[in-house]
Amino acid sequence: MDRRTVGIVMNGVTGRMGYRQHLVRSILAIREQGGLTLADGTVVWPEPVLVGRNAAKLEQLAELHGLTRYTTDLAAALADDSNEIYFDAQVTTARVAALRQAIAAGKHVYTEKPTAESLADAVALADEARAAGVKHGVVADKLYLPGLLKLRRLVESGFFGRILSVRVEFGYWVFEGDWQTAQRPSWNYRSEDGGGIILDMFPHWRYVLDHVIAPVRSVYAQMATHIPQRWDEQGNAYPATADDAAYAVLELEGGIVASVNSSWTTRVDRTELVTFHVDGTEGSAVAGLRNCRIQHRATTPKPVWNPDLPVSHDFRDQWSELPENDTYDNGFKRQWEEFLAYVVADAPYGHDLYAGARGVQLAELGLQSAREGRKILVGDL
Ligand SMILES: NC(=O)c1ccc[n+]([C@@H]2O[C@H](COP(=O)([O-])OP(=O)(O)OC[C@H]3O[C@@H](n4cnc5c(N)ncnc54)[C@H](O)[C@@H]3O)[C@@H](O)[C@H]2O)c1
Repeated sequence: MDRRTVGIVMNGVTGRMGYRQHLVRSILAIREQGGLTLADGTVVWPEPVLVGRNAAKLEQLAELHGLTRYTTDLAAALADDSNEIYFDAQVTTARVAALRQAIAAGKHVYTEKPTAESLADAVALADEARAAGVKHGVVADKLYLPGLLKLRRLVESGFFGRILSVRVEFGYWVFEGDWQTAQRPSWNYRSEDGGGIILDMFPHWRYVLDHVIAPVRSVYAQMATHIPQRWDEQGNAYPATADDAAYAVLELEGGIVASVNSSWTTRVDRTELVTFHVDGTEGSAVAGLRNCRIQHRATTPKPVWNPDLPVSHDFRDQWSELPENDTYDNGFKRQWEEFLAYVVADAPYGHDLYAGARGVQLAELGLQSAREGRKILVGDL
């Protein structure tokens, strides 16, 4: 059995996403299962080198997980030929420069979203990677959620008939940070530091809608900074300059209308932190992170509007849960496995830096729409 070690420069592993999802739940999990076995029997063994700004934190992380390689010197890590892949989960503002450096060093690159803060930068990055002949990939984790995999299965089965509309509800209350600590990093609430819910979430909505429902053709967005002051990790008050909620209406190919609410200033009255409600002529579904409930045309009740009488239906009871029919591994890990197979064996891989740029495009046009108060067409890239 051939074993193929692949060095991976992992930048930003002291952060929330870099540590939990990418290092622990993906790369270390792949090592714990004995590596990634490819179709031809080759076992791919990911060998991370942890990169960041704080050597003490990196050393601590490396020790905690029995790793030996860490450095604060990105250029040195990139100069090492045994490192074939550069991965980026840094704050968004630091991403473009680091990816450029990695592409120039001839590394394959894999990155968190958004790939850049502007469409021009996102497209330039993709062009540079293509010109350099390196492989490139962007995280599209929501597509691997059990709830969305089930929704996709429904779409492919023809369950919906003609899809009419989609309603996406995403969000929860993110504490301001004064009397309870905030559960998200403070840079998310400062636009000068790459924050804002549109830049954060619209890249996700782009690939989810494009892949699961239909391609996005236009956007109208209203954004708000509902909470103007928050408190940072040190307990200091700061002005929140970024949008903390966005209310968008998108048109998808085929005349499908998607209304998409994203908010860090809402209290949850849903079964999950994000839900996708799809209505079609033959049936409807509500998918969340894990579950997916359906109601078919034939089982649709006939409520009659009469405010004089108490509610006679338990509406949630009238839906049925879709069976699992599959096993679902962590989505970030599955995507890492696909990217590793792509790098080592040229296996198909769908989400490259151009897909990443389409996500940034929707964010940029969403922001423009909100500023100008008008609907904007989303052209092909
Ligand atoms: N795929 C997803 O579902 C998802 C979810 C959340 C965040 N993200 C993305 O992941 C990236 C990281 O987000 P996070 O929530 O893990 O953030 P975080 O603040 O927890 O981590 C940021 C990381 O970047 C490093 N960093 C590098 N340069 C920095 C600088 N100048 N200032 C501050 N930190 C710097 C930090 O040390 C840390 O390791 C963002 O681009 C974000 O959009 C993706």
